[in-house]
Amino acid sequence: MKLTEDLQWRHACKGMNGEKIPQEKVNKILEAINLAPTSLGLQAYKVLVIENQELKETIFKEACPQQPITACSHLLIFASYTQITTKDLDTYFDLIKWKRNPGDEWLGNYRKKVESFMERNYNYFEDWLARQTYIALGIACVAAANEHIDSVPIEGYDKAALDRILKLKERNLASTVMLPLGYKDPEKDWMNNQPKVRKDLNDLIEVIK
Ligand SMILES: Cc1cc2nc3c(=O)[nH]c(=O)nc-3n(C[C@H](O)[C@H](O)[C@H](O)COP(=O)(O)O)c2cc1C
Repeated sequence: MKLTEDLQWRHACKGMNGEKIPQEKVNKILEAINLAPTSLGLQAYKVLVIENQELKETIFKEACPQQPITACSHLLIFASYTQITTKDLDTYFDLIKWKRNPGDEWLGNYRKKVESFMERNYNYFEDWLARQTYIALGIACVAAANEHIDSVPIEGYDKAALDRILKLKERNLASTVMLPLGYKDPEKDWMNNQPKVRKDLNDLIEVIK
């Protein structure tokens, strides 16, 4: 039951100590993110990994005054695409062809299906793109816990400010959520060793037979 133990160990870390995470552990978390499921398999997001301390300080000052932003080792920023271009689709279908070679007919049909999604209502489309990043966020939290790396998802920030600092709009990207990775400072991390606050499983889960 290692997974359950890791998930019990994990908590939203409120205070980090600035210690660096070994690169191989960071790589494991990033590889796990790359294995996250995404709708249609498009992986229509970027994950920016910020190591630069000066940039972290700017984000702290201008977009998010939460302690782990500057005291983390690596700051992950999840940013969804704001649109999906023909070039994105070409790249994706080239990748499928290379990995699976399913034949031109299959590829053509699947591309039509994917393109039909692109015609949906714009607001819904943007939400749909943004939602994909939260699945990757969840996988990242689990992968970090598996390495006993502390983390905290952060959505409480000034999105316009962060996107401006990172020049995301110019790259057709929009930030959705951040995940500082690092090691807890037990004196500042007031969530450390707190019991989990969770519903009774019977209140959360409803089995329909
Ligand atoms: C999408 C999302 C956004 C969150 N934003 C913040 C945040 O801005 N600051 C923060 O300290 N915690 C944030 N949290 C952490 C939650 O408050 C925390 O996960 C929840 O209270 C459950 O506690 P646990 O993760 O320690 O079990 C966020 C969590 C999620 C999933």
